[in-house]
Amino acid sequence: MQLVWLVTGASRGFGLELVKRILARGDRVIATARDISRLDPLLAQPDIDKTRIFVLELDVTWPSNVLQETAKKAIDHWGRVDVVVNNAAYAVSGPSEELGADMFMEFMKTNFAGPINVNNAFLPHMRARRSGTLVVFGGFAVYKSEFMGIGAYSTTKAAVHAYGETLSAELAQFNVRVLVVSPGTFDTSPRMTVHAPAHPIADYDAAREELRKRLAMRPHIPNMGDPARGMDTLVDVVRGEGRAAEKGEGGKMPLWLFLGDDSIAAAKGRAEALRDVAEEWKEVGAGLGRDDA
Ligand SMILES: NC(=O)c1ccc[n+]([C@@H]2O[C@H](COP(=O)([O-])OP(=O)(O)OC[C@H]3O[C@@H](n4cnc5c(N)ncnc54)[C@H](OP(=O)(O)O)[C@@H]3O)[C@@H](O)[C@H]2O)c1
Repeated sequence: MQLVWLVTGASRGFGLELVKRILARGDRVIATARDISRLDPLLAQPDIDKTRIFVLELDVTWPSNVLQETAKKAIDHWGRVDVVVNNAAYAVSGPSEELGADMFMEFMKTNFAGPINVNNAFLPHMRARRSGTLVVFGGFAVYKSEFMGIGAYSTTKAAVHAYGETLSAELAQFNVRVLVVSPGTFDTSPRMTVHAPAHPIADYDAAREELRKRLAMRPHIPNMGDPARGMDTLVDVVRGEGRAAEKGEGGKMPLWLFLGDDSIAAAKGRAEALRDVAEEWKEVGAGLGRDDA
């Protein structure tokens, strides 16, 4: 069956790669971006079937009524949208104390409120059809967050994971599937920067410098994930074919898709750490029920 996909943040990185992988499978795609001219190079490629791609401006931070109007345009184009992929996000790093609540909340607007508002704009359509798939992008930072500078970003992604998990339970009754994608480190070019605080705290000067060095090293991380392979796998899982043919029989999807060896290791590591701490400290936390007898 030919699916109609909508992808946010299709201008570069995973989003652009996903659009290419969707087209390669013969599906149709609504490629959305804040600046749609950034999709011109893709559209200029001679092997792109332009009858199966529709480009639409969409900023995930737009107010919900504007996103609803945009969703209507998207649905009207081919009469339906089967899969919505919430890929758009950004990242800034810095010590949590310097970022402060304002920066945490600023991040939330794009990385967390964005997917909620986009999904909600398409949900009346999907509920009415009793069919659809919502994909939200979390990340392995959720399970590997105990290091300097990652707090604001990993908080938004942890919120996305929790939101996606609950949403999957809420929407099962409408036959709408939810997939939480948790990529490891992939060879995209995220424009992650180190936050330049208005009021720097001198105690963090060295940490900020260390963060800058770490970001500069990102392109040299060995065995980084290949975004084309990662997005091909995502299409496999949504379509229940290729790598996911056996496990995805009958439209079955996992709740989380851990993409990349590092992501799988991070999820397993977190699961083991939770189990170990719960076991080791159980005498401290157990048996705190009210004495009703
Ligand atoms: N790459 C990795 O290693 C990795 C690991 C874990 C999770 N992820 C997640 O995977 C997703 C894609 O990451 P990526 O590496 O491909 O990032 P990327 O190369 O930085 O691309 C981010 C995309 O999001 C778009 N975007 C940002 N703010 C937006 C907004 N307000 N409205 C609409 N679009 C917006 C950007 O558009 P502009 O071009 O207009 O800026 C761009 O297309 C993100 O959710 C990220 O958190 C990535």
